[in-house]
Amino acid sequence: MRVVLLGSGRGSNAEAILQAQQEGRLGRARVVQLFSDRPDAGILALGPRFGVPAAFVDPAPFKTKLEGEGEARFIAAVGGCAPDLVVLAGFMRVLKPGFLGAFAGKIINLHPSLLPSFPGLDAIGQAWRRGVKITGCTVHHVTADVDGGPIIDQTAVRFDAGMTLEQLTEKVHAAEHALLPAVLASLAG
Ligand code: GAR
Repeated sequence: MRVVLLGSGRGSNAEAILQAQQEGRLGRARVVQLFSDRPDAGILALGPRFGVPAAFVDPAPFKTKLEGEGEARFIAAVGGCAPDLVVLAGFMRVLKPGFLGAFAGKIINLHPSLLPSFPGLDAIGQAWRRGVKITGCTVHHVTADVDGGPIIDQTAVRFDAGMTLEQLTEKVHAAEHALLPAVLASLAG
């Protein structure tokens, strides 16, 4: 199963996947490429470390969505890898019908809450401010309904009394780092 990872940030989830691959815990899944919409994203530094090609793809002209020329560049770059699965690991752009159609049924996303609670940005902060006692993380299929596609798997994270937002964030991230590689291994069979 050829996997392409897309990310915009520090890449800790991509790192968890690549670490799992190195340790033989990804089954038949194999990461063939990393792409980022930010030239300075930490995720790109993982390429040389793990021996996987990593590249910036210019997402212009939009800031928060992938459409127009940027979308065309991403479709060409990702399509060139002939992926069986496209994994959004902290890719902070809304995908539009062009990209969704090009890889229909093959795109999954990681989200730091128990969807359908707290979709959108700053999901951990949203849960924190709402005062929920249980939150978590979700891996789901990506559809035009942002953060609303069919759920593949979830992990619950308990808010312990007195926890700071930073501590809750750390706990959710730890849950993500276990969940996403496990989902890949399970999808790869
Ligand atoms: C993760 O917590 C992921 O769930 C979140 O971005 C973070 C990326 O961290 N994604 C979203 O909020 C998508 N809406 P990472 O770059 O260290 O993997």
